[in-house]
Amino acid sequence: MTASWVYIEDIPKIQEREIEIRGWLFNKRSSGKVVFLIIRDGTGYIQGVATLDNFTQEELDSFEKIPIESSIIVIGDLKKEPRAPGGYELMLKRVNVVSYSEEYPIQKKDHSIDFLLERRHLWIRSRRQNAILRIRSEVVKAIRDFLDSKGFVLVDAPILTPSACEGTTTLFSLDYFDLGKAYLSQSGQLYMEAACMALGKVYCFGPAFRAEKSKTRRHLTEFWMVEPEMAYWDWQDNMKLQEELVSYVVQRVLEKRKRELEILERDTKPLENVVPPFPRITYRGAIEILKNNGLNVEYGDDFGGDEETIISNRFDKPVFIHHYPAKIKPFYMQPDPDNPHEVLNNDLLAPEGYGEIIGGSQRIHDLKLLEEKIKEYNLPREAFEWYIDLRRYGSVPHSGFGLGIERTTAWICGLKHVREAIPFPRMIYRIYP
Ligand code: 4AD
Ligand code: MG
Repeated sequence: MTASWVYIEDIPKIQEREIEIRGWLFNKRSSGKVVFLIIRDGTGYIQGVATLDNFTQEELDSFEKIPIESSIIVIGDLKKEPRAPGGYELMLKRVNVVSYSEEYPIQKKDHSIDFLLERRHLWIRSRRQNAILRIRSEVVKAIRDFLDSKGFVLVDAPILTPSACEGTTTLFSLDYFDLGKAYLSQSGQLYMEAACMALGKVYCFGPAFRAEKSKTRRHLTEFWMVEPEMAYWDWQDNMKLQEELVSYVVQRVLEKRKRELEILERDTKPLENVVPPFPRITYRGAIEILKNNGLNVEYGDDFGGDEETIISNRFDKPVFIHHYPAKIKPFYMQPDPDNPHEVLNNDLLAPEGYGEIIGGSQRIHDLKLLEEKIKEYNLPREAFEWYIDLRRYGSVPHSGFGLGIERTTAWICGLKHVREAIPFPRMIYRIYP
């Protein structure tokens, strides 16, 4: 038999009747004379039907004994079957086991989250995790397509860095030969500031590392971030780009990953709403909302998950909060000329209680002011000399932001915790496989 190998997701597009599927045994049923083998190949599921027409009773008995998750290659004839998921069944003619699986540890029953995380390398085979990883991939592709179509240039930022970007309390450090400490990058932003002065509009896309002491459902120690940076753009131009990007990504997933959203039982109504413009409130306004909700907060407090949830629940779209007090934000943010105690920044909170998915700002472009801030924040000036340099040679106002891939994916998928939104999560209390 020389049937051609096809992926299950391509079946509706092909002409052939006889095909080969290469996959793994997902499930099986038998009535003695008919054995149903449900096969997954990563792109979908199909039910194979083995009967006495093509096999001996002995062969049928052996199929029934194939352990779940064994790798198998089958050949058969496609048959339209409206009741089957995907609309097809495969009338089997040949079944070859590539490798017999040992007893598979993940069963249909409810396992604890720890049990599953310890087996993340296997857990990703499940229908739900498969759907999440496909949506994550769509999110990444949508972001890149959007930025590329707008003339942005991808510039990769280094992972090993000589200095902090987002505050020294969450730095991972390592010994760098005889040169002392180096750090894992918290953000590629500072390098993007250099790159936008060279290329106009740029972005980096990569992992970021934070030694976060927080055990929340929003914090990973390693996560992925896209960071656009634009020369000559101010903080309001920056917010417009953010709302266009987020809307594009959400609408793209709704269009292309309908099936996956169904598997996750995601209510898509709130997502359909995600179109520009997004509401904009000031930090001061956010404090008012929190006070009116009975929270004991004061101007100058930073927001945690609870505060973000209360604010975002007030809106049915993502909401921008801008003009934070300078003292609770990093050194590089441009103060508002009319009120230097506040900065020209914004966070973007996702709706449905998902909290901050973007942090962005206009950056300080004045040499003197930047030098003062570096002193004020007690940062080691030598490590920032190159960054200060950017203010010496044709400095211009510029802006940018960072969007977290896991928080965005968790929101779009409707997940409780970001740990399911990254293939192999790292948290403060544990490095799983
Ligand atoms: O607000 P953050 O810290 O901003 C920056 O890093 C800026 N330098 C970005 C820039 O302007 N180029 O982080 C940006 C986003 C957050 O809104 C969140 O989505 C995500 O990165 N993020 C995390 N995601 C998971 N786990 C963590 N520990 C995260 N920390 C930040
Ligand atoms: Mg932030």
